[in-house]
Amino acid sequence: MLLLGIETSCDETAAAVVTEGRRALASVVTSQVPLHRKFGGVVPEIASRAHLDAILPVVKETLARAGVEPDALDAVAVTVRPGLIGSLLVGVSFAQALALLWEKPLLAVDHLLAHIEACFFTDADLEPPLVALVVSGGHTSLYRVEQRTQATLLGATTDDAAGEAFDKVASILGLGYPGGPAIERVAKGVEPGTIRFPRTLLGDDSLDFSFSGIKTAVLYHCFGQDASGPGRGELPPEEQARVAAAFQEAVVEVLVEKCRRALKQTGLRRLAVSGGVAANGRLRQELRHSAQEEGWTVAFPPKELCTDNAVMVAALGTELLRRGAATDLEVAAKGEVGQ
Ligand code: KG4
Ligand code: ZN
Repeated sequence: MLLLGIETSCDETAAAVVTEGRRALASVVTSQVPLHRKFGGVVPEIASRAHLDAILPVVKETLARAGVEPDALDAVAVTVRPGLIGSLLVGVSFAQALALLWEKPLLAVDHLLAHIEACFFTDADLEPPLVALVVSGGHTSLYRVEQRTQATLLGATTDDAAGEAFDKVASILGLGYPGGPAIERVAKGVEPGTIRFPRTLLGDDSLDFSFSGIKTAVLYHCFGQDASGPGRGELPPEEQARVAAAFQEAVVEVLVEKCRRALKQTGLRRLAVSGGVAANGRLRQELRHSAQEEGWTVAFPPKELCTDNAVMVAALGTELLRRGAATDLEVAAKGEVGQ
């Protein structure tokens, strides 16, 4: 089975060709980071216009790199939710047009299940049931996964996503966008315990998350409650690094604790972690450490499959096709696109 996947839910225009749901023949991801950088986050209107510019060249390039003619494809898979509505519509409309033109089935893919699929794609031996943590710029959610095409929500953020907190704290520190990789870079090798930011765990058994408090704590720490501290980006580099390391440590500790709780409460012994923040080396290290200590296993995709990509979309599309999922050219018209 040979599928073309298309992903435009946020600020990456991506396409990929995947064979048998196991091997990527080509994967192209164009990031809009430079366009959004000066705003410190994704601007929806700019994102959808940029998708419109990029989608045709990205798909053409993907097919050329894969050396695949449209005739050889079995289906087209596209992310339909959740995401920025204007961005999603670009990918969905384009995929509909291709499916119509090429007379291929169209598979509607959920972006969060696709992030989880990146773990199955990476590790052929990974099998449900498992607990999945999807931790990105838009989401921080724990799921119980009984089969690859379905997940039950166990807990989610009540305010900011973890990646969003990384981005906002990086902006406070003057480290630029996207914040996650920048914070990880300056925090590397820096003792994290010199400042202690709050770890918001909510109730004792809660599997929900809250990251808005830590963002405010960092803001007050850097500028003072009356904003009398140095201006944004004017912290001395050593202080920047100390704050970055302490912030990263606090977020990682919360994420690890919630995973431990989810595994304990469900009685499952396998964890799969994906989404942009899953690229964070400290998080990977601490989860591996806990897994070893407590006797469960943890799976991560390689970093390029943690952040948004279309390999995970084509892979999940393949699984859906195998399971005989209904394919329908009218996904958008039926209001299935969006949140
Ligand atoms: O999955 P993704 O590409 O897009 C969404 O679906 O949101 O995730 C992007 C998020 C951004 O907030 C970015 O700062 C964060 O993932 N991120 C990281 C790292 N790499 C990306 N956060 C922490 N450490 C990283 N190394
Ligand atoms: Zn994502």
